[in-house]
Amino acid sequence: MLNGRRLCLRNLVESVRVGSSLFKVRRGYNSVAAAQAVSSQSLASDAECAADVDWENLGFNPRPTDYMYIMKCAKEGNFEEGQLNPYGNIELSPYAGVLNYGQGLLEGIKAYRKEDGRLLLFRPDQNAIRMKMGAERMCMPSPSVDQFVHAVKQTVLANKRWVPPPGKGSLYLRPLLMGSGPVLGVAPAQEFTFIVLASPVSNYFKDGYAPLNLYVEDEFDRASPRGTGSVKTISNYATVMKAQSRAKNRGFSDVLYLDSQNKRYIEEVAACNIFIVKGNMIATPAINGTILAGVTRRCIIEIAQDHGYHVEERSIPVDELMDADEVFCTGTAVGVASVGSITYRNKRVEFRTGAQAVCAELNTTLVGIQRGILEDKNGWNVDID
Ligand code: COI
Repeated sequence: MLNGRRLCLRNLVESVRVGSSLFKVRRGYNSVAAAQAVSSQSLASDAECAADVDWENLGFNPRPTDYMYIMKCAKEGNFEEGQLNPYGNIELSPYAGVLNYGQGLLEGIKAYRKEDGRLLLFRPDQNAIRMKMGAERMCMPSPSVDQFVHAVKQTVLANKRWVPPPGKGSLYLRPLLMGSGPVLGVAPAQEFTFIVLASPVSNYFKDGYAPLNLYVEDEFDRASPRGTGSVKTISNYATVMKAQSRAKNRGFSDVLYLDSQNKRYIEEVAACNIFIVKGNMIATPAINGTILAGVTRRCIIEIAQDHGYHVEERSIPVDELMDADEVFCTGTAVGVASVGSITYRNKRVEFRTGAQAVCAELNTTLVGIQRGILEDKNGWNVDID
């Protein structure tokens, strides 16, 4: 108790710094409610005065935290210096490009707390690069890699009391880039807004870390050649909700999509990439324009090669999937998720899961690096304290 009090006193001193010089907190950008919130919130903003959260049952839900980062840019301009703002609703023109025509991108990044209390961000530069590529496709300017990484770091530091204890989850950062200026005809907006949100999370799927039961969808498509399947545009997600909710109503965890031209090759699940394992071979669909270039996907490929597996990036017929020893999914939000069964055209096949599975071995290495337990040979972690 005494210890706790001492820590909170220290927090109080630190949080005054948070509210003044260390962080540029701009009050009043958003709603009055958010502006008012800063005075009470800034006094509590430190990791050891841990947020009042049930760390055992985080799930994957939007949880209001203390601050969000906002940066704006006019058309043809550069993003100016951004600022931390109290978390709250944002003001947006009802004619904003993002609301009317879906001109928007999202990203997902995780920050972890190490046993010694230090905070680590996992490969934020990769998300920055992906956002730049997506922005080009969606006719938007984008923050530079340095601006993006700086914004994410600031958001983690300002919300550090929301980073879960080691092993309990992570702080999920959600960078958004949107056309915020008003438009009526179909055209790019004249003003753009970049926001970074933060929320503590643990498992993505509602059944925790239980193996997934996937349904192979052959009625609805997720992406088409030369479309936007390979970029993280917000409009890739609403379109899969019908197939997803139909599958969930039938008891499946999620949907696996096939290529739209042949309905023969597997592509991805809406929020994650997919891998198959057969003997010593691990395969995943190649990045061909319809598949999202997942950061976790790339890490798992490198870890698997390092562990001596033969990894192939290529087209995978659905019949080969059904004949695999093992199937697993990867994504920032999802992590590495074992697949227990796949159902395709009324045929259900079960796969190896559990501690002996290849994906458990690869996941142990990935999570060990992310939490700062295993050596980070590739320099993937960014220390942010
Ligand atoms: C992520 O894995 O971070 C994503 O952005 C997927 C999201 C749609 C939940």
